[in-house]
Amino acid sequence: MTEPLRIALAGLGTVGAGVIRLIETNADLLTRRAGREIRITAVSARDRGKDRGVDLSPYAWEDDMTAMAARDDVDVVVELVGGSDGPALTLARRAVAQGKSFVTANKAMVAHHGLALAREAEAAGVAMKFEAAVAGGIPVIKGLREGAAANAIERVYGILNGTCNYILSTMEDTGADFADVLAEAQAMGYAEADPSFDIDGIDAGHKLSIMASIAFGTELDFANVGADGIRRILSADIAQADALGYVIRLLGMANVEPATDAADGDTVRLFQRVHPFLVPKDHPLAHVDGATNAVVAEGNFSGRLLFQGAGAGDGPTASAVVADIIDIARGEIGAPFSIPVSELNPTAPAQTGHRTGKAYLRFQVVDKPGVLAELAAAMRDAGVSIESLIQKGAGDGPVLVAMVTHEGEEACVDKAVELLSGSPSLVEAPLVMHILKQ
Ligand code: NAP
Ligand code: HSE
Repeated sequence: MTEPLRIALAGLGTVGAGVIRLIETNADLLTRRAGREIRITAVSARDRGKDRGVDLSPYAWEDDMTAMAARDDVDVVVELVGGSDGPALTLARRAVAQGKSFVTANKAMVAHHGLALAREAEAAGVAMKFEAAVAGGIPVIKGLREGAAANAIERVYGILNGTCNYILSTMEDTGADFADVLAEAQAMGYAEADPSFDIDGIDAGHKLSIMASIAFGTELDFANVGADGIRRILSADIAQADALGYVIRLLGMANVEPATDAADGDTVRLFQRVHPFLVPKDHPLAHVDGATNAVVAEGNFSGRLLFQGAGAGDGPTASAVVADIIDIARGEIGAPFSIPVSELNPTAPAQTGHRTGKAYLRFQVVDKPGVLAELAAAMRDAGVSIESLIQKGAGDGPVLVAMVTHEGEEACVDKAVELLSGSPSLVEAPLVMHILKQ
């Protein structure tokens, strides 16, 4: 029998404890699938005394997690701590420097340092794997790297943040307030240590940038993800969207566009956006509720592929982490981003103004004559055609006006918002959401 694959586990929170439970529960199955035993030898976290619901006594404890990279009884370092920099990054670098493969669920670190880490891992001939970093338990990285590897991917998009999807679908079902539902998502272990990463679209942006690199064979470019979150969405928006035949979902969307001039050379124009979209109720993504994630990839030969499953939580995330460990046990190293880093295409951000679509605009306006005419005039002057409009007064307070536009250029909607900027008729800045095309 081949020697066991010996694992060091840094981080014993939601995901780390889940990995221990999975490896203990499915030990025999993992040995058969991996062709060798997967054995945890060392663990580390901040607080040695904390009850984590798992027995840590069989494993060596390290107070300093970076010391695990140098242990002779460790073949693979698994980082489940989090944070783009700090100890997680130090540990990843040390592991590679020691000639050890590493596995991580840390999308923040991969989004910020993935290319540099991948270069180091490729040079050292070790694996760097991060299936759990994108869409929790869904094997979307494997799906793109392996199952869809024969295709040119034209577009990827989907629901990439379980916390936001849980919040939006629960607000939709119960009419509850944003803040109460966020607290529930935190209690269930879905949210990041700093939940603003979830609700401001940053976490989804991390995942989108990683997925885009693998889908399009381009250099990872988190800095140019346009990210918007769900903080400003009101129950009233959800109700208006419902009346118009839509649900609201935070989506990440990416595609590549032809270079705009010859000077671009190999540079690929990459569009990457995280934004709350109105999704038609008959689109598959409209039925994705709770902490579930779903990713659509459009291949030039496969057509539309839909990956769906639990996007967060201990069990699903542990499933993805251990799948990576099994690959390493089998000797499947491969380039971290599927194509060696030196061969990934450089990117420049795509222009967005020429993109076309319908938009939802919501205004909170003062209740006085002429306000509706002012909104309509701004739309006219910006070249935006209104398809439908709902106005809802609420007693003495501001009036909510929700509009859906006809298909048109995004630049025109931006222009309308600019024309209204600073108007004393508006109680707050307008909220703009794009409408997902079928
Ligand atoms: P978590 O529950 O907060 O656990 C983090 C663990 O790291 C804890 O055990 C903590 O120790 C330890 N830790 C934190 N800072 C440390 C430090 N400076 N030195 C040593 N140990 C430290 O986080 P999680 O939800 O398991 O997430 C872990 C990673 O997985 C993150 O990158 C996250 O983005 C990613 N992820 C999470 C999910 C999910 O559903 N939760 C899904 C996909 C990916 P103590 O326990 O002693 O405090
Ligand atoms: N906070 C993340 C989410 C965890 O809610 O999707 C899974 O990556």
